[in-house]
Amino acid sequence: MSNPDHPPAVGVLDQGPELIFPPGFLWGAATAAYQIEGAATEGGRTPSIWDTFSHTEGRVVAGHTGDVACDHYHRMPSDVRLMAELGLKSYRFSVSWPRVQPGGSGPANTEGLDFYRRLVDELLGHGIEPWLTLYHWDLPQPLEDAGGWPARDTAGRFADYAELVADALGDRVTYWTTLNEPWCSAFLGYGSGVHAPGRSDGADAVRAGHHLMLGHGLAVQALRASRPQAQLGITVNLYPVTPASDAPADVDAARRIDALANRFFLDPVLRGSYPTDLAADLREVTDFGHVRDGDLAVISTPLDLVGVNYYSRHVVAAPVEGAEPEPYWRAPSCWPGSEDVRFVTRGVPVTDMNWEIDAPGLTETLRRVHEEYTDLPLYVTENGSAFVDAVIDGQVDDVDRLAYFDAHLRAAHEAISAGVPLRGYFAWSLMDNFEWAWGYTKRFGMVWVDYDSQARIPKSSARWYAEVIRRNGLAAQ
Ligand code: FCB
Repeated sequence: MSNPDHPPAVGVLDQGPELIFPPGFLWGAATAAYQIEGAATEGGRTPSIWDTFSHTEGRVVAGHTGDVACDHYHRMPSDVRLMAELGLKSYRFSVSWPRVQPGGSGPANTEGLDFYRRLVDELLGHGIEPWLTLYHWDLPQPLEDAGGWPARDTAGRFADYAELVADALGDRVTYWTTLNEPWCSAFLGYGSGVHAPGRSDGADAVRAGHHLMLGHGLAVQALRASRPQAQLGITVNLYPVTPASDAPADVDAARRIDALANRFFLDPVLRGSYPTDLAADLREVTDFGHVRDGDLAVISTPLDLVGVNYYSRHVVAAPVEGAEPEPYWRAPSCWPGSEDVRFVTRGVPVTDMNWEIDAPGLTETLRRVHEEYTDLPLYVTENGSAFVDAVIDGQVDDVDRLAYFDAHLRAAHEAISAGVPLRGYFAWSLMDNFEWAWGYTKRFGMVWVDYDSQARIPKSSARWYAEVIRRNGLAAQ
């Protein structure tokens, strides 16, 4: 055992040194409202696009919905006790917009806000730092009916909602992130349509991406005005994009996908401009006429931190004649202007999502954000893996997930050693939950959830993570 204040000198341990993280490193776990809360029609909550989508036949595997999910709405106090038992320093959750502002406009719903007041109080009472995400994909359905994120007005509605949540929780929540993964909201929601609201139009996806970022900027301004002490940021999902070969056509394919996946969001938010190559790639999709004077200044309103979600790497190549289009996030409709780029499978180990396991990609991603974009503190706001788990004699021995976390934490530590101001890490996810279009068929949790009884069983990875947190680092390898 080591004392985090006094890491062992390099070389004194037979198997190499322990990897100790900086003092105060924020160890957490993450969830999202629609994925865990349930209570879809209780306490004044109205439908979001995910309620409509999941109740539409053929959209979610096996017709699963978030109606009950992990029943967290009713089990919140015991779930927070579980977090405390694991020693979490922070818990990242999202607020359900239609729970606190039914319909997405007008007055707050006190009953909905009270749930989050109680949650935050429970967390603080257990010494757990609340980390609040305002938007994890559950747009109130009436706002979608009025045009959704492709409509400019939605950005303003989001800022109003942010203000309403700040009024209720701003006295006790320090860390705020506006959006979770705007790429997914825009390109899975309005491009390929595999996520709610299930629309498929390249120009709409690009407009949605812009208005999401505009909403982010307006919300940051509103939060800053009402809560000057708050730490404000955004969470983006980033991928290293690697060409399959040095051939110029493959290198160009990587440039295109990097523009759509990463720079589409990083450049406006952190530099106040869209990448010029992106506009050129998209010229047949949109003329960016939806971007108004002043928008980019709002979008690039200064932040206090950046959240990075990391799962995998994209390896891409130029198109070949007759290649089959691939499903899901590789669907051509996710990549307007680059529909013919091929995603290459390298044959390395994958998770149950079929996502390639690539821990060095986390180091690379964090270094890139720091070295190319910003000196702001960074946080890994999600990282984790789905694997097929089994309960045997009341235990879930999820060795693959544990190894995934271990490898990625080593990669995070390497980024810190390279000078990245990484201040925290949130495992995705605290518990198994509703994995969007995959319903309950994919398990990402450190805690097993029995969806019939709602029993929770901490898996081996949860016990291991508790030990990582306790020693503020990893054992020697
Ligand atoms: C991310 C989402 C999160 C979860 C993980 C697996 O894209 O933010 O809600 O579904 O993927």
